[in-house]
Amino acid sequence: MNIKQLLCALFLLYSVKGLSRHPKLLLISFDGFRYDLLEKGLVPNIYKWASMSTWFTSGVKSQYVTYTAPNHMSIATGMYEEEHGIVGNYFFDPDKKKMFDYFNSTGKEGIVNASQADFWFKGDPIWLTNERWETTRRSASFYWPNGESSFPYLPHTPKIARPWTVVGDLKSWMKDADDVIDAFTRETESVNFVAWYVAEPDHTLHGNGFHNKEIEKTLKHLDDLFLYFIKKFDDNNLGTDVNIILTADHGHAEIKDHKHVMCVKNFVNGAGFEMGDHMIYPHSEEIGKQIYTNLTEAVKKHGYEVNIHWKEDIPERWHYKNSSRIGKIVFEPQVGSAISFSCTNEQMEKQYGENGTAKFNSSTHGQDPDRPEMRAFLIMRGPAFSENYTIADIPSNVDLYNLMCHVLGITPTENNGTMEIVKRALKENRYLPMTHGFVFNQITDSWSFSLILIPSMCIVIAFLPTAVKIPF
Ligand SMILES: *[C@@H]1O[C@H](CO)[C@@H](O)[C@H](O)[C@H]1NC(C)=O
Ligand SMILES: *[C@@H]1O[C@H](CO)[C@@H](O)[C@H](O)[C@H]1NC(C)=O
Ligand SMILES: *[C@@H]1O[C@H](CO)[C@@H](O)[C@H](O)[C@H]1NC(C)=O
Ligand SMILES: *[C@@H]1O[C@H](CO)[C@@H](O)[C@H](O)[C@H]1NC(C)=O
Ligand SMILES: *[C@@H]1O[C@H](CO)[C@@H](O)[C@H](O)[C@H]1NC(C)=O
Ligand SMILES: *[C@@H]1O[C@H](CO)[C@@H](O)[C@H](O)[C@H]1NC(C)=O
Ligand SMILES: *[C@@H]1O[C@H](CO)[C@@H](O)[C@H](O)[C@H]1NC(C)=O
Ligand SMILES: *[C@@H]1O[C@H](CO)[C@@H](O)[C@H](O)[C@H]1NC(C)=O
Ligand SMILES: [Zn+2]
Repeated sequence: MNIKQLLCALFLLYSVKGLSRHPKLLLISFDGFRYDLLEKGLVPNIYKWASMSTWFTSGVKSQYVTYTAPNHMSIATGMYEEEHGIVGNYFFDPDKKKMFDYFNSTGKEGIVNASQADFWFKGDPIWLTNERWETTRRSASFYWPNGESSFPYLPHTPKIARPWTVVGDLKSWMKDADDVIDAFTRETESVNFVAWYVAEPDHTLHGNGFHNKEIEKTLKHLDDLFLYFIKKFDDNNLGTDVNIILTADHGHAEIKDHKHVMCVKNFVNGAGFEMGDHMIYPHSEEIGKQIYTNLTEAVKKHGYEVNIHWKEDIPERWHYKNSSRIGKIVFEPQVGSAISFSCTNEQMEKQYGENGTAKFNSSTHGQDPDRPEMRAFLIMRGPAFSENYTIADIPSNVDLYNLMCHVLGITPTENNGTMEIVKRALKENRYLPMTHGFVFNQITDSWSFSLILIPSMCIVIAFLPTAVKIPF
């Protein structure tokens, strides 16, 4: 060994000295990253990394309602939304008579802070399960929705908790990447679990849809971020120590045109009810019947592709019923459609109609999680997981909590997930006998898929965000 190699070896020893001695895991969410956006042409670096990892090529199923705050909570706790209590991005609690609105969608003074009160939270998120196991374990949340919130049981919050505030850009995300690596490698008090949230590509998709090229730019930025991050991760020799799970909260579906947005204000007005981001809480049965009639007649008259459910008729498979926080009337826009509480038909027509001033281009989510468009991407890499491995079976995002606990070597709190599909990602299970038919899926060079085609000739049109309130 020459001096240079010796120095190098010493440097490596030194540079891993700060690592936590516990199993390590980094959970990343890129908001709204639909499973089929993981294409070589769109995100070559993430694609390359996914190809070397365990890749759930059909994605992961999210929970109804397919919005951001509830699905991040389902990923973190392994629970259905009715169980963990975060049943929307904004919703009403009729017992407490209080509104939850983590992302300030309703713009009411003080509502974000009010959404941090501990009675909202009923699940046990992975960052707390991890820290509770041993006092030397440390968790961090970098902008994970409700990652900074105080839960009703010890240790309440993770050691490092940065609240989400802005969408940010490549530059700020790269700074975050530095901080995530620092959290794992710092000399003292290094963490063994990090949850890291990035609010794109969701934000771009709401404002532009899939077809005007903006999404490609944003995906390129995410790909650049990922390359920057992974390079630094490898330079710090974290690859053999730290497991990574890269996923998202839900997918996205293009809205066909402005006529496919149901402006609820046109049909429901006056007082006598509260509103959540996709549901209504009438104060009386009488008002409820009126609202239901108005809505179902509007659907018939205008041909909206929106299902209006009485709470008791919500499909069982959604596990979205057993909570007083779920409104009596629940909207379910179909793929290609949306609902909005902030627009009016007149305003939409003026803006996007025949003689309108803008072109309507927008995508959204909130639809049936059994639709492929609502599925998120899911890739895992690290000492716990198989390499160069694809799995076509579709797990549910509530399964990730059990898997994360397994990787971290801790016992999960009771939850609604199963290991059945996700356990196949584990290195020790690579040669499990086949039950679902997709166990031994080596990646080949010719292997590729692309379900969405991005037209190359597109016009960039700004979508005016005042017209349709953008849900996360
Ligand atoms: C929420 O939105 C309102 C209205 O835009 C604003 O006044 C308030 O400062 C926002 N709160 C936070 C915490 O961002
Ligand atoms: C924030 O909420 C907490 C309770 O969750 C409350 O005690 C505190 O006064 C609130 N702060 C502000 C500035 O409203
Ligand atoms: C914008 O949306 C319309 C449908 O409203 C669609 O026909 C058009 O192709 C979209 N524009 C672009 C640039 O993709
Ligand atoms: C139902 O629609 C009618 C007719 O447009 C309207 O007068 C009434 O206020 C609506 N009811 C509610 C509860 O919004
Ligand atoms: C939820 O289920 C439990 C047990 O079946 C039941 O006691 C409770 O009333 C239900 N709550 C709601 C809000 O439906
Ligand atoms: C759009 O403008 C044309 C020409 O001024 C007019 O004939 C037409 O009725 C307008 N369409 C709408 C929906 O207002
Ligand atoms: C995965 O594939 C890469 C490139 O083909 C190869 O270098 C590596 O050894 C493979 N890993 C395993 C565990 O097979
Ligand atoms: C979800 O998990 C909770 C906690 O274990 C349990 O009480 C509840 O019954 C489960 N729900 C379903 C539908 O299995
Ligand atoms: Zn969104």
